[in-house]
Amino acid sequence: MPAPRHLLAIQGLSPPEITALLDLAEAYALLNRSGKTQRDLLRGRTLINLFFEDSTRTRTSFELAGKRLGADVINMSVSTSSVNKGETLIDTAVTLNAMNCDLLVVRHNQSGAPALLARKVDAAVINAGDGTHEHPTQALLDALTIRRHRGTLEGLVVAICGDIAHSRVARSNIYLLTTLGARVRLVGPPTLMPAAISELGVEIFHEMPLGLKDADIVMMLRLQRERMAAGLVPSAREFRHFYGLDAQTLGFAKPDALVMHPGPMNRGVEIDSAVADDPARSLIAEQVEMGVAVRMAVLDTLARRSTRNV
Ligand code: CP
Repeated sequence: MPAPRHLLAIQGLSPPEITALLDLAEAYALLNRSGKTQRDLLRGRTLINLFFEDSTRTRTSFELAGKRLGADVINMSVSTSSVNKGETLIDTAVTLNAMNCDLLVVRHNQSGAPALLARKVDAAVINAGDGTHEHPTQALLDALTIRRHRGTLEGLVVAICGDIAHSRVARSNIYLLTTLGARVRLVGPPTLMPAAISELGVEIFHEMPLGLKDADIVMMLRLQRERMAAGLVPSAREFRHFYGLDAQTLGFAKPDALVMHPGPMNRGVEIDSAVADDPARSLIAEQVEMGVAVRMAVLDTLARRSTRNV
């Protein structure tokens, strides 16, 4: 079977495919730290960031990644585009495609939107987060960050905590971590736990002390109130009491457990600053750094697979 032209999801990727991306990203991480760039690789290629939802980390790091590899990078501002005149998602993408765009990075609030576009355009489409479905490059950067500290994902206990129901990050991480042999626990209130999620080979917990017991990695998630129907969580204060991570709660995990958060954080809700900013335990800044390396690896890999001439 030919290698996929797009990156739409982690689900369906094989262990060798994931490992190859992580290995290439590790090489880019070292290159980035050395201050060297590789501006020839994507010379003559055009990358368009098409974000229908807000973003700081993902959009900026795709821009940086594209520029470090020599691509022409366009950040399309959806808020000032013809989308506001009623142009559809597909017409917007087909229009950009007609300008010989090579790489189209798409974030959209509808699950499946990037997959729909991938059927309509010649460009390689990269899912930068679609609704509650997947956020594949986030899971890759999370895995790279963990691997740098623990050497492997095999056998690690990873507790993903908080608003699982609305989290595309949780879904992509579940697929990736279980594919590479980690044990995944989901910890959160029943109202924020999707009904059939245990079918994905994870363990479910509704109490932090039990869910965090002997965990190697504690991954906190943002409470996504913008996607939430009213009444799922009584109040931010109550959520913090039962599901927030502070130094005391982290004490239920392994003594050397590491803390992650994809961002943006709601400090004082799902995570306290004392934990988020603890350099001995928190990997949050490194996750952001690895985001650039992972996105360079993805752009590199997909550009090499592209049949477009430049
Ligand atoms: N983790 C993440 O997707 O962050 P942004 O929304 O800032 O891109």
